[in-house]
Amino acid sequence: MRSSFLRMLFVGLPLACLTSMVMIAQGDPEAAKIKNPVAATPESLAAGKQAFQRSCTSCHGVNGEGGSGNDLIPAAPDLTDKEWKHGSTDGEIFSDIKNGVPPDLNMVPFGDQIKDPDIWNVVNYIRSLAKK
Ligand code: HEC
Repeated sequence: MRSSFLRMLFVGLPLACLTSMVMIAQGDPEAAKIKNPVAATPESLAAGKQAFQRSCTSCHGVNGEGGSGNDLIPAAPDLTDKEWKHGSTDGEIFSDIKNGVPPDLNMVPFGDQIKDPDIWNVVNYIRSLAKK
């Protein structure tokens, strides 16, 4: 009786932790290695803001705090909180923007519309929106 309880504790607990860790870490390890080559200068932030307002606010809201979605597209996530479903590194955020978020691509790829250096400006701008 007692030993089966202990076994449950020793096997079940780590298993539950492992499962939840896998569920949280849905980032892209390859993209996570990409280093941000653009310093977050005032110029970069200004350029990033401009691109963000042009391309992203329709779904993510004017302040990046997320949208409500509609019949076609699910609600776009808040980009100012600490929660990153698809990875929190600059490289992963860059990849989300450039390549979209598979498999549904509700987050559409912007690689054709925004040049790489400008995508990094957007990454820097999103970082500057982060709630402390
Ligand atoms: C057509 C609506 C739409 C537009 C436009 C859009 N997004 Fe998204 N975005 C989404 C949706 C929906 C998701 C959630 C995707 C998912 O989880 O499958 C998302 C996810 C993201 C993520 C991942 C967030 C996380 O929690 O990991 C980032 C980063 C992001 N968007 C940035 C941007 C940027 C920057 C732009 C502008 C260049 C942009 N998005 C434009 C709808 C949009």
